[in-house]
Amino acid sequence: MSKEIKFTDDTMALVQRMIKRYPEGKQKSALIPVLHLAQMEFDGWLDAPVMDYVALILNIKPIEVYEVASFYSMFNLKPVGKCLIEVCRTGPCWLLGAEDLVRHIEKKLNIKDGETTPDGMFTLKTVECLAACGTAPVIQVGETYHENMSTESVDTMLNDYKSSGERKTHFDKKHIKTQL
Ligand code: FES
Repeated sequence: MSKEIKFTDDTMALVQRMIKRYPEGKQKSALIPVLHLAQMEFDGWLDAPVMDYVALILNIKPIEVYEVASFYSMFNLKPVGKCLIEVCRTGPCWLLGAEDLVRHIEKKLNIKDGETTPDGMFTLKTVECLAACGTAPVIQVGETYHENMSTESVDTMLNDYKSSGERKTHFDKKHIKTQL
């Protein structure tokens, strides 16, 4: 049975507040934060029906949503595990060992970049600069930044997430609320 694609009342109220921040007819400007909310609400990723739903709400063409969602690495276009591990691979992080961290995680979890572990726990993704170059190498998991990482601290991080079982794929809605 296919899932029902509908924001909760609480999320829809946030969406409406976001749209109201822009002049009439410019509701497309709310697209990125609305996509973040959609990702939060629908299991951490955006499939075509979800993007079509966002297009409908913003009264824009689905292709306009697909273009934005496929451009930014912060939007996931395929299912992700409970913990989304995003390793920065840009210059400063790369110079300080990001590639070694990626290889270490791949080996430890037995997956490649872009893949999810068979138990659905972890997805590994490499991304561009996370804007914390001063504390490279950096890994983002959900809304948490892990800085000055080493293979040892990666092991601790993975063990902690595995034992907590917490979903870490996106920002917390309460932080979006504080922006409005
Ligand atoms: Fe990794 Fe900027 S290069 S945070």
